[in-house]
Amino acid sequence: MHAAEFFSTYGNSSAAPWSGNSNYVANEAALFAALHDLYGDAHRPLRPMPSYKEELTSRLLSERVRTYLETGVNTGESLMLGRDLALAIGVDPAPKVPPGIFDKPPFRLVAKPSDDFFLETFSGDGPDFTLDLAFIDGLHVFEYALRDVIGCEALAAPGCEVLVHDVLPRRGAEAARHRFSRAWTGDVWRVPMVLRHFRPDLTVRLSESAPTGLAVISGLDSRNTVLMEQYDEVVAYGLGLSILDFMQDRDAHVAAV
Ligand SMILES: C[S@@+](CC[C@H](N)C(=O)[O-])C[C@H]1O[C@@H](n2cnc3c(N)ncnc32)[C@H](O)[C@@H]1O
Repeated sequence: MHAAEFFSTYGNSSAAPWSGNSNYVANEAALFAALHDLYGDAHRPLRPMPSYKEELTSRLLSERVRTYLETGVNTGESLMLGRDLALAIGVDPAPKVPPGIFDKPPFRLVAKPSDDFFLETFSGDGPDFTLDLAFIDGLHVFEYALRDVIGCEALAAPGCEVLVHDVLPRRGAEAARHRFSRAWTGDVWRVPMVLRHFRPDLTVRLSESAPTGLAVISGLDSRNTVLMEQYDEVVAYGLGLSILDFMQDRDAHVAAV
């Protein structure tokens, strides 16, 4: 399957419970207590590690990285780290960036959902760039983050790394598919789990970077279409995983590579 066909079939295909920053509840403690049976309530902070921004910055400063894509720009804090690259693309349907700062090269700011960006990129003459690094931090819902990985892999230059933010929730309720809480990882934690299952050829490392973990994916191959071909099965497998089991085994998942 070609990437354009994949994104035209599956892009924006799952319900998007993204609720912006406005409707989380004020009393998180009461909320977490109420959600105990569904999600477990043990609060398990990560070990103190460098933050995700430090992990991102060290890569963006390396000689190897010249081109970068980020899904989920928000205020542009992390996209700005790419200012010395040859190309730094930011994709976000509702960026909250100060006017003017991402208008010039190396930046390309695309104010669209990432599925639309990928569909357009792979349509027509196809992409005019490859990626050395990508950071996925857009819609915190499993299928969306998974499709972001799929799109980035199809654009990957040899040696490309894809970083996925928010893969280690500190408590089950923080990982709900609908946003209840101020700090929200959503169920992006399913992404590294499905990659390890369906793509044993990839290296998927889980870093306990503050505040909510980072997956570092390497060994990507732009010609590999397994995730596109088996997308329905991959999604069904991922949605079948239990957050309670994941939280219980979180240390083992971090230790496994
Ligand atoms: C957590 S913020 C990103 C923070 C930023 N990467 C940083 O570290 O400073 C998540 C962003 O994802 C954006 N978003 C929501 N749905 C998206 C989608 N379908 N594609 C890309 N971005 C999306 C939101 O508008 C929001 O700005």
